[in-house]
Amino acid sequence: KIPNLTLSNGTKIPALGFGTFEDVPEGMYNAVLCALDTGYRHLDCAWYYKNETEVGAALRTWLTQNPSVPRSEIFITTKIWPHLMTPEDLRWSLDSSLQKLGVEYVDALLLHWPVAAERDENYEVAKDPVNNGYILKPDQPAALLAAWETMISLLTTTTKVKAIGVSNFSTTHLKPLLHTSHPPMINQIEIHPYFPNTHLISFCAQHKIQAVAYSPLGSQGQTVRQGQTVATVLTDPTLQALAAEKGCSIAQLCIAWGIQRGYAVLPKSANEGRLRANFEVVSLSEGEMERINGIAGGIGRKDGKGVRMVNPIEMFGFDLWEGED
Ligand code: A2P
Repeated sequence: KIPNLTLSNGTKIPALGFGTFEDVPEGMYNAVLCALDTGYRHLDCAWYYKNETEVGAALRTWLTQNPSVPRSEIFITTKIWPHLMTPEDLRWSLDSSLQKLGVEYVDALLLHWPVAAERDENYEVAKDPVNNGYILKPDQPAALLAAWETMISLLTTTTKVKAIGVSNFSTTHLKPLLHTSHPPMINQIEIHPYFPNTHLISFCAQHKIQAVAYSPLGSQGQTVRQGQTVATVLTDPTLQALAAEKGCSIAQLCIAWGIQRGYAVLPKSANEGRLRANFEVVSLSEGEMERINGIAGGIGRKDGKGVRMVNPIEMFGFDLWEGED
């Protein structure tokens, strides 16, 4: 049985969710059907994944085939991409996600990145004609705060969202939002044994912001920051040894380690066997937790903080976490 976590407004969120960021949209319909069959009750979606139509089709098919499970038992998240941060565009993005997913509301709506950028006339990202990069709004903090106020108004004046939050926000990005009438309830961030993100998780906990881990298995195939080459989490020797001792997989260790640290984890898999195996949560002793906690100290920087796999410079052209943990 997967435990629920409780957000600051009382909304329950299952501690194990299914990530839907995959390069093969044609595979997502079957993956979501399989995830729901397996028992996943938390789906993590986004405008950017460009597959909410497939996710929604699978969701509707599955709910029709399983009338004993109401929509309200499934926690659905979607996110707003940086080029849709004005009040009108943000509402447009939410409405288009609701329509594609075929639902009346999402359980959580998140700002995907602490970045506000321009769009083109087709609601796609506008690109700089010179360097093909994102065109940033001139005053980022003001644009982010305004977007957050729109999120609050969606929460308080519509029935379209049950909870609001952010993703990829550092403590610097979070601080201005703490003074608003409704601070974020979620911060979805990179967390795995090579990047435990401990400081940001405890900052979030202090402010009643629930951390949610993306790339909990170490984000296979992502570029490693600053060009360092590091081993992948799923082939890490310490995890390999522990998995062999316990007779489970490394993925199961990563998932259990996250849930026992007190946040929700969002592993993704397009493979039915792995998707099902990931849902079988193992239990770790304190000593086993400690062994996994120690891994990041041997990776990348020698300060125990490990190394990120996600590189925002490639996406946005600047380091939005400069000088931060
Ligand atoms: P696949 O879809 O072929 O299973 P993360 O969730 O950290 O972003 O990692 C996702 C990656 O991990 C995907 O490439 C997925 O590949 C792979 N993956 C998911 N579950 C497992 C597992 N149990 N064992 C090995 N690889 C896995």
